[in-house]
Amino acid sequence: MVENPQKNAKKGRFCPFRHDTKNPKKYRILGVICYNLVMAAATEEEKKAAAAAALQLITDNTVLGVGSGSTAEFFIALLPSVRQKIAAARASSERTARLLAAAGIPCNDDISELDLYVDGADEIDGNRQMLKGGGGALAREKVLAGCARKFVCIADSTKQVGRLGRFPLAVEVLPMARSFAARKLAAMGGGPCWREGFITDNGNWILDVSGLDLTAAAKMEMEINAIPGVVDNGVFARRRADAVFIGARPL
Ligand code: 5RP
Repeated sequence: MVENPQKNAKKGRFCPFRHDTKNPKKYRILGVICYNLVMAAATEEEKKAAAAAALQLITDNTVLGVGSGSTAEFFIALLPSVRQKIAAARASSERTARLLAAAGIPCNDDISELDLYVDGADEIDGNRQMLKGGGGALAREKVLAGCARKFVCIADSTKQVGRLGRFPLAVEVLPMARSFAARKLAAMGGGPCWREGFITDNGNWILDVSGLDLTAAAKMEMEINAIPGVVDNGVFARRRADAVFIGARPL
């Protein structure tokens, strides 16, 4: 049965079809919700398109590294179609390893040379430098990036930035070094915040650090890693991506 919007409105029920000049806030909220839904759908389509573009780079006998996060998971969802071309695989997180196993692609942590590593990013700049670690897998991601002959970053356009540093930088620390590392990071100009309740696949903790000046990103990457107790940080400047897909579009 089709409801009469005027009748609903008279009863005091919320009716999106009736123009209510007495309560414009209601319509602004509805507008914001609709806008966010449309943007989220567009972002998801871009992630899928980037994943599909990276899939084309898998050729016969590819030794593949697979990253973590929602964009990487769209890539994993496509992998069964090229399974016969994958000679071996390595995952950047326990979750990715489980998803790959479920897709019929077992992982091997002993692999130290990858033909191709595909992963997402939290931010990427025009020099293909990235911030990663929003999902907390940054230390293993950096190992796989180091193993890779070709590192391909797949992302949606919200990740593109002129300069790195709007997204808080994830720093993985030994639990016993948390306050010491936080103090050092604060002295470097950052605002560290403990990602409470989160434990990395390596049994460590994460500090999310806002406000650091990442103009010289590679230098900052090294300086943070020189703090005792820091395992690694989410600046990927020393090992940048070799190629980037923003949606289907190469950067
Ligand atoms: C996980 C990562 C991810 O690649 C990054 O957080 C991007 O995630 P998503 O694809 O969900 O936006 O670095 O540690």
